[in-house]
Amino acid sequence: MHKVLLIISGGIAAYKSLELIRLLTARNVQVTAVLTEAAARFVTPLSVAALTGQRVHTELFNHEAEAQMGHIQLSRMADLLVVAPASADILAKAAHGLAGDLATTALLATDKPVLMAPAMNVRMWLHAATQANVATLLQRGVGMIGPDDGAMACGEFGPGRMAEPAAIAERVYAMLGAGAARSSAQTDAEPSEEAGVSQAGQRGAVAGVMRGRHALVGQNALVGRHALVTAGPTIEPIDPVRFISNRSSGKQGYAIAGALAALGARVTLVSGPTGLDVPAGVDRVSVQTAREMLDACERALPADVAVCVAAVADFRPAHAAELKLEKASAASLALVANPDILATLSAHAQRPALVIGFAAQTHEVETFAQAKRAKKRCDWIVANDVSGDVMGGDHNQVSIISDKGIECLARRTKAQVAAELAGRIASRLGPRE
Ligand SMILES: Cc1cc2nc3c(=O)[nH]c(=O)nc-3n(C[C@H](O)[C@H](O)[C@H](O)COP(=O)(O)O)c2cc1C
Repeated sequence: MHKVLLIISGGIAAYKSLELIRLLTARNVQVTAVLTEAAARFVTPLSVAALTGQRVHTELFNHEAEAQMGHIQLSRMADLLVVAPASADILAKAAHGLAGDLATTALLATDKPVLMAPAMNVRMWLHAATQANVATLLQRGVGMIGPDDGAMACGEFGPGRMAEPAAIAERVYAMLGAGAARSSAQTDAEPSEEAGVSQAGQRGAVAGVMRGRHALVGQNALVGRHALVTAGPTIEPIDPVRFISNRSSGKQGYAIAGALAALGARVTLVSGPTGLDVPAGVDRVSVQTAREMLDACERALPADVAVCVAAVADFRPAHAAELKLEKASAASLALVANPDILATLSAHAQRPALVIGFAAQTHEVETFAQAKRAKKRCDWIVANDVSGDVMGGDHNQVSIISDKGIECLARRTKAQVAAELAGRIASRLGPRE
């Protein structure tokens, strides 16, 4: 049974944590709760105890519990710490390593992954102090979910509402699932080191979850950086009128190019044929074939990051006929393999510091994506399931696979995926000094 330590801090959204407990316990997750003093004014320890079926912890200086070093035990017994709602106050304390009560002491004493769901008035959220605290926590690998936009209890509108309990619960399951998969793969020979990697991995894997949406990275986060993005399909001529291609619309790659440019990067977008407009601030190099795309990419180097989103045709006709082929001869085509752009960039003498590939699959998406990351030697693979309406559509559901593990993001618009990815790239690279 997975164990979650749920820290409830003092915000108006504390009542929603009761629903979160209900959702988690319904999925067989054991929830132990810590309430801050302020939280206990919004929800009663009795309600929380009734829903968790566990004793509720509120005090640091509890003789009985501290006889066994209760604050350390609490953070050790859990697979994951969740702070929901996370008040501005607890974000600040956690960012600065304060440990003046049981909740903050548990946060400081833990080496387990931490997920926080901030909730506060929009101005408190947008205040530079809160943003700096969140950025610090993200940088340390603390996961963030939300806040959402919407009407607030205080009558204002904007980002600050706690993410919905169902969304938090989904993230928790994903994090617990990733941890479970990793720990079952551990060998007896190397338990402690693997455990460390696993925990760090989970922390890293959830970092920056909502960064793109609420622009926690500044507008200049990628100033001085050069980003190379490939997008769209390639088309491989059979003869002057026929070609081999695929259904890629280029929308995701174009959105990523635009999101990187919005963060101040110089962006070269190497694009196969699409009907899309060039995003603001992006230099587009239009190509047709895989070989032209590779050539354009190599000419664009050096780059700090390469994001290979293009759906490059794996094969091309061995010979593109100069004249239109007769039906009979067009019926059987000899194919040859196209160059592998992602693998080439990953192994290039001028390899970008960060190489990211996309893996479109219709089944066993993550298995294929993990294999692809190993084979292509890129840093991250963004896996997407294209069995539904992804090709040509405006939404995408992606998983990000890195050396830190796998993280599944909820379905969202391609623009949101792009902002998310750009935020992560900015966190990884930062502006050029
Ligand atoms: C009615 C009321 C509602 C509040 N709602 C929030 C809130 O949603 N988010 C927040 O960060 N602080 C909110 N606060 C302020 C916190 O309760 C206060 O900063 C407290 O010290 C937080 O303590 P804690 O972080 O230890 O729980 C609210 C205060 C009151 C009186």
